[in-house]
Amino acid sequence: MIKNIPPMGWNTWNTFAEKINEELVLSSAEQLVSSGLKKVGYEYVVIDDCWSLRERDRSGALVPDPEKFPHGMKYVADALHKMGLKFGMYSCCGGMTCASYPASLNHEYADARAFARWGVDYLKYDYCFKPSSVDGKALYRRMGTALSGCGRDILFSGCSWGSDNTHEWIGTTGANIWRSTGDIVDTWDSVKSIIKQQYAILPYGGVGCFNDMDMLIVGMHGKGHVGLKGCTDDEYRLHFAAWCMLASPLMIGCDVRNMDETTKEILTDPVLLSIAKDERGNRPYFFHNWNNDDWTIFVRLLANGDIAVGFFNLSDSGVDLWLSADDIGVPDFSGKTLSGVEAYSGASVRAVNGVLSKELAPHSCAVWRLQVKNK
Ligand code: GLA
Repeated sequence: MIKNIPPMGWNTWNTFAEKINEELVLSSAEQLVSSGLKKVGYEYVVIDDCWSLRERDRSGALVPDPEKFPHGMKYVADALHKMGLKFGMYSCCGGMTCASYPASLNHEYADARAFARWGVDYLKYDYCFKPSSVDGKALYRRMGTALSGCGRDILFSGCSWGSDNTHEWIGTTGANIWRSTGDIVDTWDSVKSIIKQQYAILPYGGVGCFNDMDMLIVGMHGKGHVGLKGCTDDEYRLHFAAWCMLASPLMIGCDVRNMDETTKEILTDPVLLSIAKDERGNRPYFFHNWNNDDWTIFVRLLANGDIAVGFFNLSDSGVDLWLSADDIGVPDFSGKTLSGVEAYSGASVRAVNGVLSKELAPHSCAVWRLQVKNK
């Protein structure tokens, strides 16, 4: 089924990788509820790779690892549904998952039926160990068909990292979201590189099949599986703002049981979430000022006629960015001007003489939700 807004939730991979179990998943889910994250939209709890035994059983079925998930997956699904959350799982189109657990190649229909029986609402589908003799798109179409007929509405999350020109065929597979890049890690360079890889593929996102820029690293601070160096809070702010502006899924990757207040504030910023969840799904576009592609302005027309504008300074020096209202459809002769509110700070902003401008520190951003008003 078409999803009008990109999914939001939490995924086990970034922090926990193979160290997952029922207690971790359900206690993190409880935290999503009690911290208020569920209330603002984070509703999918996704168990990533490493949840099964290393072998299928004699009938060919995937078996949840009884040490990690002693009550099985239906139990986890029921518990999540009782909390008002949705349940996501993971498999792969190759013979094995990326961490070498059994995957769905040639088991697509049986696995889709099992996921439906267990109460799964979301399937992340990876691209490792894909036989070179078979087209990835054929395998994704196979799982897309299997999910469509499995009797349950399961969001299909393609994860082929943009390989094999994914953007050209992913919309034909039934996928609701598609991973456009390799894996994120918790460093500034990783965030910057993923943002810069989006320029060329902005036309391939939005309602129908959202472009997935990978799980969030906000609040990881160097801890956990993809932890590495960590980022500053300003870098996390910019990261989250870019994912919202570009309508990426928002899957939290930090340990939500140990979040600091700043992390929570970033993940729940009301201005950014109103942009991320805009149902019209108009495509964002961008400007590079002065031919420097580290100084980027993303713009998105929203459902009610507001305009989201984000100034992003990906460079290592400060910069004064500006944008003419005329360039985003509001010329001076229209008698209209722009004013609105800034994400994170809540400050008011308005165009002065038809121009929006802002001085930005290195690795920082300013995002506004602007209304088009009479002068
Ligand atoms: C791939 C995916 C990641 C994660 C791992 C699990 O690398 O891109 O998001 O799911 O596999 O092994």
